[in-house]
Amino acid sequence: MKTKSLYLETIGCQMNVLDSELVLGQLVKLGYQPAASAQQADVVLFNTCSVREHAEDKVLSRLGQLKQAKQQRPEMIVGVIGCMAERDPQGITRLMPHVDLICGPGQLNHIPAMLQAVEETREPQTLVGREHSRKLDPAQRSLQQYDSLEALDLARQLQPGTNRLQAYIRVQRGCDKFCTFCVVPFTRGPERSRPPAVLVDEARRLIDQGTVEITLLGQTVNSYAHQEDDRRVTFSELLSRIHDIPGLQRLRFVTSHPGDFGDDILQVMRDLPRMCEYLHLPAQSGSNSVLQRMKRQYCIEEYIDLVHRAREYVPDIQLAGDFIVGFSGESDAEYAESVKLVQHVQYKNIFCFKYSERPGTAAARNLPDDVPDELKRRRNVELLRVQEKIAARNNHQFLGRTVEVLVEGYSKAARKAQESEQSRGAEVGWRRSDQLVGRTRGDHIVVFPGGPELIGQLFKVQIIGSTALTLHATMQTGPVTSSLLTPLTLKH
Ligand code: SAH
Ligand code: SF4
Ligand code: F3S
Repeated sequence: MKTKSLYLETIGCQMNVLDSELVLGQLVKLGYQPAASAQQADVVLFNTCSVREHAEDKVLSRLGQLKQAKQQRPEMIVGVIGCMAERDPQGITRLMPHVDLICGPGQLNHIPAMLQAVEETREPQTLVGREHSRKLDPAQRSLQQYDSLEALDLARQLQPGTNRLQAYIRVQRGCDKFCTFCVVPFTRGPERSRPPAVLVDEARRLIDQGTVEITLLGQTVNSYAHQEDDRRVTFSELLSRIHDIPGLQRLRFVTSHPGDFGDDILQVMRDLPRMCEYLHLPAQSGSNSVLQRMKRQYCIEEYIDLVHRAREYVPDIQLAGDFIVGFSGESDAEYAESVKLVQHVQYKNIFCFKYSERPGTAAARNLPDDVPDELKRRRNVELLRVQEKIAARNNHQFLGRTVEVLVEGYSKAARKAQESEQSRGAEVGWRRSDQLVGRTRGDHIVVFPGGPELIGQLFKVQIIGSTALTLHATMQTGPVTSSLLTPLTLKH
């Protein structure tokens, strides 16, 4: 049998990155090989995001580019999977009739069967809706009722040779918060926490295969809670259990909702040595009236109190934030509160988005999208500029410090140089001038000279230069080892 080639492109958040990895694992096991480009592939899948209109437009444009290839090779299979497939399957079919497969994020384990059905029947296949069921109350949303959802994560394929240095684990699905601007509760369904025993087992298998850094994923990861026999396992307890698996060197989690962030999590971050000093804490706005219209369920005083508590418990903690500018009715004064918050918190970095009205959300139904696009753009550029200055100043303070980095690979510049050598047919080898890239525990990107043997190691480097985005360093000492491995030692 001829092997089939697959092109899988991912747009969206870490959940989608993980979903794509799991889908790819399934298909590689069935003999699919990576295709050089979408145009040449036997199967093209786009794993999509609906969070902003721009993300959907990108997919529509990529699909449009495939129309001709599909006409020339009708046997080619074009699929749309993930959040956009869930949000509007009919819309995709209407605009892009050459799409053969539409599969929501709760059905991804059915993709092999769907591909087979397309091949056999030449009829388009659509599977959506599983993530939608909110009929069950949270206590009843057990593993069995979501067996199909769980199948993909449970069957996680660990392929030898793939980059397993860092891995994501989904601890929670969906979201129950229904912020008025957000489409995620509609595409990913109700919030469900996966059982701790399953998660510990998944982590152990990854670590056995060489993973040293794990990031736990959830839309509001800190609200994780799972009923185990007659007691409730909280997020801080889950962190401790995963943290204690021998061989793990770093543990992170994203994204936290500022509304239910207890001190128990901060205590764990303070006391357990492999917990990274990093917190992604989306604020969305610095104005209480905007937060209320967004239905974020916290006020700015609570947010700032959490930032202060986090810094009390973990003094060197690095904070990242998300902001939306130009949300319905955002006045100059309300926007100025966001600028004030960014200046007050001193984030390591922020993600800033222009408000994009999403069909079906409460904001789309009840609140006008009335801030002109040009004003949204100006606020976006300005807020990012404010943050850039803060980051440049804060990064400058790292000069001379020694930090621990996990070496992830070659820097972008080194990879580019290698690719251009490769395309000229030259033999690619490591040169003394090559730069490696690593990350600190606080998620700073550090670039420094070094050889490929260091990739995957934890190293101490000394910071000798900085910009708003990057730290530059030289190697200082040998690898960091025993103190981070078992037996456990408490930081304080
Ligand atoms: N669960 C996370 C965020 C998920 S979406 C949380 O609660 O914070 C990632 C980010 O996209 C959000 O933090 C928000 O800043 C942004 N976002 C979500 N919906 C948006 C919209 N309609 N327009 C612009 N940005 C949006
Ligand atoms: Fe969206 Fe709000 Fe849920 Fe985050 S918490 S995924 S912003 S609804
Ligand atoms: Fe986008 Fe879906 Fe993630 S809408 S942000 S890919 S959960």
